[in-house]
Amino acid sequence: MIDLRSDTVTRPTPEMREAMHRAEVGDDCFGEDPTVRALELEVARILGKEAALFFPSGIMANQTGILAMGTPGSEVLLEARAHLLHYEEGSVAAHGGMTLRAIESRDGLLTPDEVRGAIRPESRYHPRVSLLALENTHLDSGGRVMGPEQVAAVCEVAREAGLAVHMDGARLWNAALAAGCEPADLVRPVDTVMTCLSKALGAPVGSMLAGPADLMEGAWRIRRRLGGQMRQAGILAAAGLHALEFHRAGLADDHRRARMLAEGASRIAGVTVAPPETNVVMMEVGETGMKPPALLAALADRGVGMVPFGPGRVRAVLHREVNDDDVEMAVEALAGVVGGV
Ligand SMILES: Cc1ncc(COP(=O)(O)O)c(C=O)c1O
Repeated sequence: MIDLRSDTVTRPTPEMREAMHRAEVGDDCFGEDPTVRALELEVARILGKEAALFFPSGIMANQTGILAMGTPGSEVLLEARAHLLHYEEGSVAAHGGMTLRAIESRDGLLTPDEVRGAIRPESRYHPRVSLLALENTHLDSGGRVMGPEQVAAVCEVAREAGLAVHMDGARLWNAALAAGCEPADLVRPVDTVMTCLSKALGAPVGSMLAGPADLMEGAWRIRRRLGGQMRQAGILAAAGLHALEFHRAGLADDHRRARMLAEGASRIAGVTVAPPETNVVMMEVGETGMKPPALLAALADRGVGMVPFGPGRVRAVLHREVNDDDVEMAVEALAGVVGGV
């Protein structure tokens, strides 16, 4: 199976399992897990933030960042196709009593004008807006990247309106690579940032929330309230530390293979692909005359996994368990399916 459904399907390597095996652990509820502590310090250092906290999932860390800064009854502004809006079970509304207000953008990446246009003048007849949530890379647009200048410009508009800013940086590592900057350059103007170790980096579990120390103190309590308190989590944190040290370099290959896949697929009649900026490839397949479910079932019969992503669109995500030959075979399989070969 050439599994291109997501970059979350990777399994821990033998070296990662060895690091997990050797991890020193303790009860993290008492602040006594040295490996969790080391991971939190390392991520805070890399992201240039005062503190970071280890979470079991990105959804919990996203939610915690927002709950730490927003107030019940207020709004969170975000891009109309944001993961937080469509794929997180209404968690911010359910647990934080906040509504999410979608800003339509041209290409998934919010501009200062789009954000400015969504901020209403203060009025007792409208809910207050607590914060702006950004997503980088932006998954639904095909893993597109907001560079440091764009992040800074959008955050400036938010600041002028007194809003806090949270960033869903599930694939921040990919964003930084594609933007040619350090991850810290992308998150300097935001208050809190969530980033995943369990996606492109290949750890089995784990996401981080980073931000100012006082906010992270509040976040610790929210994580506990949400049931995210872990105990000897150093076994998992060791995988995260290993991923940060040894797997970041490989992201460049994922981006190159995404371009390879996009080039190959766009030569197939009826398939349209925008050039990918990172590891996500969105393919418009409506013109092939096949509906995504039938196309994906036929692809699966040929040993290639992709997922539907909106009407007429399928998604492939490159990751560390896919090599150049796999990409070539995936293109051949797609050509075979679409051409009815
Ligand atoms: C952009 C984005 N944000 C957040 C998440 C949530 O992460 P998790 O699945 O670890 O909860 C995902 C997961 O795919 C994602 O793609």
